[in-house]
Amino acid sequence: MNAAKQIMCNRWFHLVKKYNASSMVFSHGCHKRPFSTSRSRMTVMPAWVIDTYGGNDVLRFTRNASFPILNYPNEVIVQVHAAGLNPIDVSMRGGYGASSLSMKRDPLNLNQKGSEFPLVLGRDVSGVVMECGLDVKYFKEGDEVWAAIPPWKQGSLAEFVCLSANEVSLKPKSLSHSAAAALPYVAATAWSALVNTCGLTLENSAEKRILILGGSGGVGTFAIQMLKAWGGHVTVTCSKDAERLVRGLGADHVVDYSAGPVELALGTLEKFDVILDNVGGDTESWAMGLLKPWSGAKYVTLVTPFLQNTDLLGVADGMMQTGITVASKALKHLCKGVHYRWGFFIPNGAALDDISEMVDAGKIRAVVEAEFPFSQVPQAFQKVEEGHARGKTVVQVIGGGGDHAEC
Ligand SMILES: NC(=O)c1ccc[n+]([C@@H]2O[C@H](COP(=O)([O-])OP(=O)(O)OC[C@H]3O[C@@H](n4cnc5c(N)ncnc54)[C@H](OP(=O)(O)O)[C@@H]3O)[C@@H](O)[C@H]2O)c1
Repeated sequence: MNAAKQIMCNRWFHLVKKYNASSMVFSHGCHKRPFSTSRSRMTVMPAWVIDTYGGNDVLRFTRNASFPILNYPNEVIVQVHAAGLNPIDVSMRGGYGASSLSMKRDPLNLNQKGSEFPLVLGRDVSGVVMECGLDVKYFKEGDEVWAAIPPWKQGSLAEFVCLSANEVSLKPKSLSHSAAAALPYVAATAWSALVNTCGLTLENSAEKRILILGGSGGVGTFAIQMLKAWGGHVTVTCSKDAERLVRGLGADHVVDYSAGPVELALGTLEKFDVILDNVGGDTESWAMGLLKPWSGAKYVTLVTPFLQNTDLLGVADGMMQTGITVASKALKHLCKGVHYRWGFFIPNGAALDDISEMVDAGKIRAVVEAEFPFSQVPQAFQKVEEGHARGKTVVQVIGGGGDHAEC
């Protein structure tokens, strides 16, 4: 009992010292119980926020964003060292998915329209656990962690972020925070599409021929490495200047989509077991024909109209429209002997644990295309918005030049 009290006291002193709260110590028998008061600096933090949807000009730096609080006992607060940006951050800045994400944040619709603001973007985080809820057993304060943040939660372009412990994983030891912030969102998305939806695993990938359409961006550069680590045969489409990058990551065969009709070039190759489509558009009209029929082959696209439908039609009608669209396409292609699927990002701390091991074993590396200090978040958005990604764009939040004072 005394030991437990001592631990509590030590932890309290640690927090008081770390966050500079003023404290006094009262005597109680032979034990000393600290009494502390919070300064205002403990309730606010620096962050980049948006107060309305729009272009890059809606991004605003503030030192007074609300400090996150633990709402559930299985949550952790992470001090953000680096954040990663994805195309969805640019889309969300413009209001993409606002209807269904608002419903997820406020299912009973109790809050006024616009209650999501000020909204913090940024879907990847690498940082240090600052506080754990009472039910959190797997992590402790001071652990270096990484995570992909669900789009309905406040993001990582802030000094602190609150996450479910199920979404968090111990960061690979071999990566810096900046490099680690390049992986979680694309890794969790590729895992969801390839493992959960297409059933690929370490055990069964060796005999599989996999085609990745759009292999040079965030999702593609991760997927190539994971599939090669599992022994799959990987064909990739990308533009000519990305060929060296994707070959360096292990791609067995590369097709330059800018050199002519890519479907003709791909049509001359042996058929595939799995296709991961990162490109969308009219791709699915010809890609389904590249699969081996009647063998369980699957096509999964990450470019779906789900959030667009709910934005245009409202949540109920949009979901119904989405269900009808995906079901009719799946049925149509099933009649031809191939499976048609939509893939989605799903937060998955357990998958990140496996990926962390693969990174530390040297099987997967982070592909960082551009790195910005915290003062240059609008420039980082600009970079992602330009497209033609060759890996990921990351932002340093704490340390290494990411000094808030510059903002
Ligand atoms: N459903 C979900 O939950 C989910 C989750 C994550 C991502 N996504 C979506 O998945 C897509 C990929 O994400 P990402 O993070 O990898 O995006 P990204 O980093 O922007 O990469 C996209 C890549 O595709 C290449 N590309 C463009 N047109 C192409 C074509 N016709 N053929 C082959 N490559 C082409 C681009 O390079 P070049 O133009 O230079 O060739 C770029 O490297 C995005 O549309 C994203 O919104 C969806």
